[in-house]
Amino acid sequence: LYVVHIAAEMAPVAKVGGLGDVVTGLSKALQKKGHLVEIILPKYDCMQYNRVRDLRALDVTVESYFDGKLFQNKVWVGTVEGLPVYFIEPHHPNKFFWRGQYYGEHDDFKRFSFFSRAALELLLQAGKKPDIIHCHDWQTAFVAPLYWDLYAPKGLNSARICFTCHNFEYQGTASATELASCGLDVPQLNRPDRMQDNSAHDRVNPVKGAIVFSNIVTTVSPTYAQEVRTAEGGRGLHSTLNFHSKKFMGILNGIDTDAWNPTTDIFLKVQYSANELQGKAENKAAMRRHLGLLSADDQQPLVGCITRLVPQKGVHLIRHAIYRTLEMGGQFVLLGSSPVAHIQREFEGIANQFQNHEHIRLILKYDESLSHYIYAASDMFIIPSIFEPCGLTQMIAMRYGSVPIARKTGGLNDSVFDVDDDTIPHQFRNGFTFTTPDEQGVNGAFERAFNLYKNNQKSWQQLVRNDMNIDFSWDSSASQYEELYAKSVARARAAAI
Ligand code: ADP
Ligand code: GLC
Repeated sequence: LYVVHIAAEMAPVAKVGGLGDVVTGLSKALQKKGHLVEIILPKYDCMQYNRVRDLRALDVTVESYFDGKLFQNKVWVGTVEGLPVYFIEPHHPNKFFWRGQYYGEHDDFKRFSFFSRAALELLLQAGKKPDIIHCHDWQTAFVAPLYWDLYAPKGLNSARICFTCHNFEYQGTASATELASCGLDVPQLNRPDRMQDNSAHDRVNPVKGAIVFSNIVTTVSPTYAQEVRTAEGGRGLHSTLNFHSKKFMGILNGIDTDAWNPTTDIFLKVQYSANELQGKAENKAAMRRHLGLLSADDQQPLVGCITRLVPQKGVHLIRHAIYRTLEMGGQFVLLGSSPVAHIQREFEGIANQFQNHEHIRLILKYDESLSHYIYAASDMFIIPSIFEPCGLTQMIAMRYGSVPIARKTGGLNDSVFDVDDDTIPHQFRNGFTFTTPDEQGVNGAFERAFNLYKNNQKSWQQLVRNDMNIDFSWDSSASQYEELYAKSVARARAAAI
């Protein structure tokens, strides 16, 4: 199959969170299975250009429509992680991707509706005929209605559209008139059965549009797929998802096991494997020195947490976990940053409070290399999410032998299984879970984890080895996507005969 991903993120060149990891990991896995996979991204000024190989501009520009005019887009091509990537650089006076950040601009709706249209225009003008166009999250959700309204009639009609929603919290709604900018037909689309937001009828909802107009709709874990079909979890889209349930399913993400591999990871002090855990202990000791954490006792557990600091992640429970770790005689390292000013300020306050503390360190920034090191150095890893569509950090943590302590929700519920849960076969138990997202929930799971760590190192080490040997690669999830794609293409071909 020929698959084109149109996305706002791709690791490691343009990554804010898990979306970037998934676009790269899934694409690599599909490529490995023999499919032709290409990715189209905006050409952001803040990208990691040093991670793109052979970047060059194409001779031809791509013309695309916006706000009643045609604009030229310079197109660049390069290779990221062995994958061919097209980067669109719009010649629009608003310099849409020249802002020093990926998201959070006042005109994000315009920036990404422009990009979605330009990406389809690139496919059309370059004469590309993908079998599957796969778009992700609200930023490129516009692709589905654009395809239906404008591009299928124009000759891109061989493609099937797959939409993956990585988080229903972000729907990108805007005033209905804004849709006209990218040339969409507002009266045609601002209807309850199309893009009209389910609660605000003068607004349009790109995610709803993608659900309605895509051939395949997925989200990133089976449990989250169930949760979003309920009134409590669906963020206003549960009725739409239930109406379109035949084409909707949850597929658990994998992780890129080449990028996340403790036996080859260049960011670690020492590489190590499940058979040779001494290396993990050396990373822990080195990290303590690096961060100025003191410990008289090698056996003092180190708890890690790497996250965007947003309410979804249970920030108040993360704060609680820091103090609880201290009370229980452990050490805590947090790597995270927040797009929400008051949360960033609050954590800056905690960071200052513990500035030279011997057991606690908060590092409030995005730092890829340090993230690898923390996964390797920590013994336990806390993810107390209020909701979590999939979550990758629990899987990465396990790959590095850091045992997850997680709230049972969304993808955490599909990947972390409690060591004390008798309903689950022994070989699948891999961490500590709690159900109620409150301080007691965290305390209970922490106590059990600390207890096992301190009083039964033999079982702990066995748990660490088991976790490191779990297969979290993309293999089986990519096969599920492959099957969905193939079925959809076959259905379209059968209908065309
Ligand atoms: P989300 O996409 O909701 O942020 P995920 O668990 O799916 O959550 O993915 C988060 C990804 O971002 C992981 O690869 C994690 O290591 C990374 N990450 C999060 N915060 C930071 C940070 N401050 N520095 C480096 N990497 C981070
Ligand atoms: C979103 C979700 C996260 C998921 C990631 C990748 O950012 O918050 O749970 O793992 O997308 O699908």
